[in-house]
Amino acid sequence: MKRFPVAAGNWKMNTTVEEAAALAKELRDRLDRLDGVEKIVCPPFVSLVPVKGIITGSSIKLGAQNMYFQEKGAFTGEVSPTMLAGLCQYVILGHSERRQYFHEEDRLVNRKLKAALKAGLAPILCVGEKLEDREGGRTEEVITRQISEGLADIPNPGDLVIAYEPIWAIGTGRAATASQANETIGLIRRVVGGQCGGAVAEGVRLLYGGSVTAANILEFVSQSEIDGSLVGGASLKAGDFTSIAEQTARAK
Ligand code: 13P
Repeated sequence: MKRFPVAAGNWKMNTTVEEAAALAKELRDRLDRLDGVEKIVCPPFVSLVPVKGIITGSSIKLGAQNMYFQEKGAFTGEVSPTMLAGLCQYVILGHSERRQYFHEEDRLVNRKLKAALKAGLAPILCVGEKLEDREGGRTEEVITRQISEGLADIPNPGDLVIAYEPIWAIGTGRAATASQANETIGLIRRVVGGQCGGAVAEGVRLLYGGSVTAANILEFVSQSEIDGSLVGGASLKAGDFTSIAEQTARAK
């Protein structure tokens, strides 16, 4: 089965509204006519509306970086699935920075996933092991737990995308090797298959994230199990992200 490749940019807590608008305009001009890869940008919440205005009518899709699971109410500072549903197609959930700094656990990520799917949003579920887990030989155990608890009681995860982002590779300049990433992503596909069935596992798009650059993307997207990337730092430079998307389209 052919899975449509992805180049997704997680802008994290970077860009003012003006900077986000400028970056979105540059990406629209460079990427709108690039076929063969789904291009997704995930700006900060405050820039979702202006960026949507800029990319509407282009082939670039919009994603949020987080979301709460409740639909509305007294949850000061939070953003609901209903609010995002009219605005964007994707939402990143369970990013390691949310797990690490905001104490998000698999159970919460699972509730968020269910709420996103109910609202018609496609979740980009992030999983990944710490350096001590990899060195202690616990990668398989950690990833299996994150996937099976994250996807618990979700037999049909819709347009779910999963990003494998080893924590030791995020923002460190020390990317996983392509074969390490391919091996763990193959494991993720098997775990998804065990939980949701073979058809879901065949169709789910699995991305690599962690120090992806225009210089190393080709190694990753040349691997059989890797359907694209979730890019942090390099997605803030229009030229680099364009090159990542172009190389992904060409390789797949
Ligand atoms: P970097 O590409 O900056 O390592 O970040 C990866 C990431 O966390 C994307 O979600």
